[in-house]
Amino acid sequence: MTAVPPTADGIGAADGLDTGTPHPARVYDWFLGGTDHYAADAELGRQLVALDASTKYCAQHNRWFMRRATRHLAGTAGIRQFLDLGSGIPTEPNLHRVAQSAAPDARVVYVDNDPIVLAHAEPLMAGSATGASTFLQADVREPDRILELAATVLDFDQPIALSLIALLHFVSDDDGAREIVARLTGALAPGSHLVLSQMAGDWIPERTDRAVEMYKAGGVTLVPRSRAEVERLFDGFELLQPGLVWPPDWRPELGVDEVRDGTEVPLYAGVGRKG
Ligand SMILES: C[S@@+](CC[C@H](N)C(=O)[O-])C[C@H]1O[C@@H](n2cnc3c(N)ncnc32)[C@H](O)[C@@H]1O
Repeated sequence: MTAVPPTADGIGAADGLDTGTPHPARVYDWFLGGTDHYAADAELGRQLVALDASTKYCAQHNRWFMRRATRHLAGTAGIRQFLDLGSGIPTEPNLHRVAQSAAPDARVVYVDNDPIVLAHAEPLMAGSATGASTFLQADVREPDRILELAATVLDFDQPIALSLIALLHFVSDDDGAREIVARLTGALAPGSHLVLSQMAGDWIPERTDRAVEMYKAGGVTLVPRSRAEVERLFDGFELLQPGLVWPPDWRPELGVDEVRDGTEVPLYAGVGRKG
């Protein structure tokens, strides 16, 4: 697999990349200060930051939440298998690095539907000597296909941590967001965990509505959800303490690698355990 260096005008882009319109993975990369995005992605990012300056730091807080949740799962909770859907463009430390630092034999399957993530997936496939890490290009709206492919690497009779981190606000109810989550979580063994973050729809509605419009103008469906709607996604799971909170409030580990900068992060974040 070759990494494809993107350029502002899309020259050198991998086949199948539509670089003229924004895409969630690349806008997110812009928020994180990465280099794997195009002019259209940066433009939407700038518009969102103009709407709310803290937006840029939400992505970083979301990554820190992913790391703390993964450290807990691979450490204290003893999970050895991870299925990360909507994994995004690789950003160190990626989930398998975090999991395999705690548990070198952890096996990780990443899934994303953006061809640019596939083009840059090499770092996602450099697992530890005893663990495994692999990437599948697939759409979360095809849960059966994902489960079938993931089963070639993961043992669904054993607990799995399923991550849907900052993914579901790109999946509409018309596309069956709840049914997709139910299909995926229904395939998990007892003791499995669900790690989820999702844009809040009941924070500052005028601002959220504006963000929805901005994404829509770029051709991207953004679906903020209320606390009650996000709680329902955890059906069949018991939320671990501290429950569903903003990412900086999920078991903060001050002094590790993160800061409490007062950024408002209107994403619901939580980790649940299947009984
Ligand atoms: C905001 S990024 C989050 C990346 C990573 N999970 C994180 O939290 O750091 C959302 C990711 O979901 C992916 N995505 C959006 N819709 C998807 C779909 N229908 N199927 C698979 N991936 C999708 C995007 O390509 C993007 O990489």
